[in-house]
Amino acid sequence: MSYRSTSVKSKWTKTKWLNKNANLRKYVPQTLPFSRSNLSSMLSQYSTVFFKPTGGSGGFNIVRIKKLANGYQTQHNTVKTRYSTFDALFGQLKQRSRQRPYLLQKGINLAKTKGRPFDIRVMIQKSNAGAWKCTGIFTKIGRPGKVATNYNQGGNVGFLQQTLSGSGYSQGRIEKKRNELINLGLSVGRLFDQHLRGFRELGLDVALDGEGRSWILEVNTRPQFYPLKKFKDKSMYREMLNYGKQYGRKK
Ligand SMILES: Nc1ncnc2c1ncn2[C@@H]1O[C@H](COP(=O)(O)OP(=O)(O)O)[C@@H](O)[C@H]1O
Ligand SMILES: [Mg+2]
Repeated sequence: MSYRSTSVKSKWTKTKWLNKNANLRKYVPQTLPFSRSNLSSMLSQYSTVFFKPTGGSGGFNIVRIKKLANGYQTQHNTVKTRYSTFDALFGQLKQRSRQRPYLLQKGINLAKTKGRPFDIRVMIQKSNAGAWKCTGIFTKIGRPGKVATNYNQGGNVGFLQQTLSGSGYSQGRIEKKRNELINLGLSVGRLFDQHLRGFRELGLDVALDGEGRSWILEVNTRPQFYPLKKFKDKSMYREMLNYGKQYGRKK
């Protein structure tokens, strides 16, 4: 993947950029580097906390931590484990991290479509002329029983229209949400441009909670879109590929 668009792997670096901006900060679920004291303070505030590798991708090594009445439960892929003390939980996560940096993030209770949790990919790309455009929005519908909705984790892709309609959104609310997501994408593009040169594409992972509020889970600098090939209507795939070709992206 050696095409010409700046890549930033660290989710922590990108989260700090978002948090420096007063308008974007409110879309970021609280995120802190993994440490004993940060784990303790996050679990005192939230009933669910996500543990994820700072340099990870593809939904790998994502652990969901839930506070129980008496102890904690983690879930990695479909495997659930119970810990009766904070020390046991921390010890296990520490071991799992193997000295690599991890982040803790407030868990968002993902909205569901036809009973399945989903989140949203907002793709923005820059043409040679240099202005950001939202070239597509699609949804990632999680495989039941898993904590990450990624295609790599058995998730499915969908159109925003169908997914939100399957989530009980009226036509009016769908259009409002679509506009909000487009504007969110463009704002993130302009913000990233203030920090580094050479971004030609970004893919936001946006979660909706039960109240319909949007949360940016991460911003990808190497966003995949090949799963869109399986839609009968390939216009979104073609649009992304056409933009991508301008900076040397082939698939
Ligand atoms: N804070 C969170 N709340 C709810 N779900 C989350 C959270 N963080 C991650 N997830 C789930 O895990 C998936 C992968 O997390 P993400 O941060 O996008 O990392 P990756 O780089 O591996 O895709 C998300 O698409 C979402 O389904
Ligand atoms: Mg992701």
